[in-house]
Amino acid sequence: MHSLIIFASGRGSNAAAIIDHFKQNGQAHVALIVSNNADAGVLDIARAEHIPYLVIDKTTIKESLLIEQMQDYKPSLVVLAGFMWKVPDAIVAAFADKIINIHPALLPAYGGKGMYGHHVHHAVLQAGETETGITIHYVNEHYDEGNIIMQARCKVLPGDSADTLADRIHSLEHFYFPRAIEFLLGH
Ligand code: GRF
Repeated sequence: MHSLIIFASGRGSNAAAIIDHFKQNGQAHVALIVSNNADAGVLDIARAEHIPYLVIDKTTIKESLLIEQMQDYKPSLVVLAGFMWKVPDAIVAAFADKIINIHPALLPAYGGKGMYGHHVHHAVLQAGETETGITIHYVNEHYDEGNIIMQARCKVLPGDSADTLADRIHSLEHFYFPRAIEFLLGH
């Protein structure tokens, strides 16, 4: 069975969707959750699901011990699901072509440093876009610039707020992220 490591900083709704999907599918399991935020909702999910987790800080994320701890799980993929920090180059190198991220816009638009969460949705609304979406991509040394694996689109509706847009984007993410991972595991 494939093992997955998830990095997340927030409530972890994508992590939950991935855990649920692979509980049913049986092809993989989430072996470890890593968070930079001791209060993150994703850690409640880890505890409820009895998944081991690590809380890291600006120092420990750079230590080779973290890479060793990750390697112990022999992950087929390292999945960034709302992880707010840049992944150090040493981790990118240690897990070459195995780290993927989800971004709540159609990259290369609305990507890069500072473009996360509601900042993205506000920018999309402010620009008057009629369409937005999600991008699942490989992670390299540059923010939001790795090769794109897939994108899915949704409409921006008149009267949308950052919140309503975030809800629509989350629905797309919860559907496509587990399925994109399943696809990658099979190839
Ligand atoms: C998602 O919208 C994802 O695209 C972004 O961070 C958000 C994480 O949400 N990178 P959640 O913690 O999975 O609910």
